[in-house]
Amino acid sequence: MESVARSQSAADPGASASNEKPLIYRQSRWTRLTHWLWAISLFFMLLSGLQIFNARPQLYIGKESGFGYNNTIFAIGAENTNVGPRGYTEILGHRFDTTGVLGWSGPAGQETSRAFPSWATIPSYYDLGTARVVHFFFAWILTTTLIVWFVASTMNGHLRRDLAPRLDDLKRLPQDIIDHAKLRFHHTREYNTLQKMAYGGVLFVLLPLMIITGLAMSPSMDSVLPFLNDLLGGRQTARTIHFTVMVLLVAFFIVHILMILAAGPINELRSIITGWYRTDPPAQDDKTTERSA
Ligand code: HEM
Repeated sequence: MESVARSQSAADPGASASNEKPLIYRQSRWTRLTHWLWAISLFFMLLSGLQIFNARPQLYIGKESGFGYNNTIFAIGAENTNVGPRGYTEILGHRFDTTGVLGWSGPAGQETSRAFPSWATIPSYYDLGTARVVHFFFAWILTTTLIVWFVASTMNGHLRRDLAPRLDDLKRLPQDIIDHAKLRFHHTREYNTLQKMAYGGVLFVLLPLMIITGLAMSPSMDSVLPFLNDLLGGRQTARTIHFTVMVLLVAFFIVHILMILAAGPINELRSIITGWYRTDPPAQDDKTTERSA
């Protein structure tokens, strides 16, 4: 197990800043490996998923869909207007003009009717079969990776030490929100409360929900886990939850990248690639940066 922790003075003797900003071993090889595997998997799953969505660009609530039902809550489409074809997105009955991006897009003069534009889908042209193969391939990689992450993180203590919520986290939450709003970051061994909430939300809520709703949509799962469909309110509702989770993961991703840029991208990237992280100078008699990784 990787449980090395050393200050920069041990890692890099003689460096002038060594005693001021210790370099500690923060991310184990399992955290790093699984992090990049799920980042790659989610990239391919997102783009192939949007291609699959394009085959039926509506979302419904309930067990049924089609003519005779009025349970559409989201739709992307195109319509003819007196200024030519326009793309639209409809959310809970409210229609927005999204020409050029959603509904009607493409190079000038060659626009076509498609829900998500070709630059946002894999493959870029309409091919449902290939999109499904890509989507399911990476879905299994993601699922396996999550299981490996969970087992490794339980065994090496990452889960208990870095992600498990503590009473202290709740007390620190207001200050944490203020610090984030002011873009004031503390580079310490521990995740702050908002990080714990965001990472915990992704790893224990969003990704498992994504996998469960994905399984519920598969007809072959009806015989293996027959209760799943009913539990989630039917296949159409499962599809709507699946799509909503995708939107939340994209939102997480945007905030995640912005926070990394704001907190110091070189240091943050080094930690998730090599494991080594430069912390703030320890306060007098503060030993927290010397803790074992
Ligand atoms: C869909 C893509 C991504 C997801 C779902 C994701 C999710 C996560 C999660 C859950 C963690 C915590 C892992 C743990 O403690 O076990 C994490 C950490 C981290 N991620 Fe990502 N990530 C994604 C993409 C990226 C990308 C593209 C970058 C770099 C540009 C990145 C940089 C980092 C860094 C630096 C950390 C460590 C943060 C810290 O130590 O404070 N992530 N990510």
